[in-house]
Amino acid sequence: MSSPTASAAPAEPASVDTPALTMAGVSKIYGRDEQQVTALDEVDLTVASDEMVVLIGPSGSGKTTLLTVAGALLRATSGTVRVGDVDLGDLGDGKLSAFRRDRIGFVFQSVNLVPFLTARENLLAVRQFGGGRIDRAARERADQLLDELGLADRSKNLPSQLSGGQKQRVAIGRALMNDPDLVLIDEPTSALDSKLGQQVMELLHREIKQRGVAAIVVTHDERVIDFGDRTVEIVDGALQ
Ligand SMILES: Nc1ncnc2c1ncn2[C@@H]1O[C@H](COP(=O)(O)OP(=O)(O)O)[C@@H](O)[C@H]1O
Ligand SMILES: [Mg+2]
Repeated sequence: MSSPTASAAPAEPASVDTPALTMAGVSKIYGRDEQQVTALDEVDLTVASDEMVVLIGPSGSGKTTLLTVAGALLRATSGTVRVGDVDLGDLGDGKLSAFRRDRIGFVFQSVNLVPFLTARENLLAVRQFGGGRIDRAARERADQLLDELGLADRSKNLPSQLSGGQKQRVAIGRALMNDPDLVLIDEPTSALDSKLGQQVMELLHREIKQRGVAAIVVTHDERVIDFGDRTVEIVDGALQ
């Protein structure tokens, strides 16, 4: 849990309670001049280190934008975003993408698996992109995740040979592969029928709670709300 540098000096007692995410006065404006869209309007949001927050709101209200800004895929136009004790505004572009890769897991609406890699290779690729080695520990971790997600017998299948629910589960495994501190999930059930959606949500919830990871889950699906510790609503870029 503690950072590698913590051994020399006494660990800061505050670190245990450091929120996974702190957004303060965060705005995101797309475009310029007359084309401007204020997608996030002075958002304040804190997510505790083991909390699952469900984010709801109408289409176009800024949900995906909030996830992409929280997850360091896009920079805020103004305000501060901290992930753990790191202010994302302090990181240059190179450090920001390394930080994102190592500390944040994404499960996005369009699943985006690499089409020519098997399920297992899609998980292992996360390590490789990070410059990490695909050593025995990485292979064991991938196999353990695939097993927990009920995909042990699908590990050698390509995405095109998997159902929608199976692909979504591979994407969950991939998001957890690097032991992130924060997992950002955009409409995990939108492409699935209701029974499958429920199963995927149960799995996601179990995996996240088991690991004590923080998460934000965006959804339109009323039943997903029950899985969250807290529900937050966004309308026109503003939290309600
Ligand atoms: N890349 C972009 N460029 C310009 N406008 C965008 C872009 N992405 C999203 N928007 C606009 O920002 C607003 C919020 O979008 P989004 O975050 O995708 O909402 P949601 O996920 O809640 O549907 C919408 O008005 C949308 O049209
Ligand atoms: Mg969206």
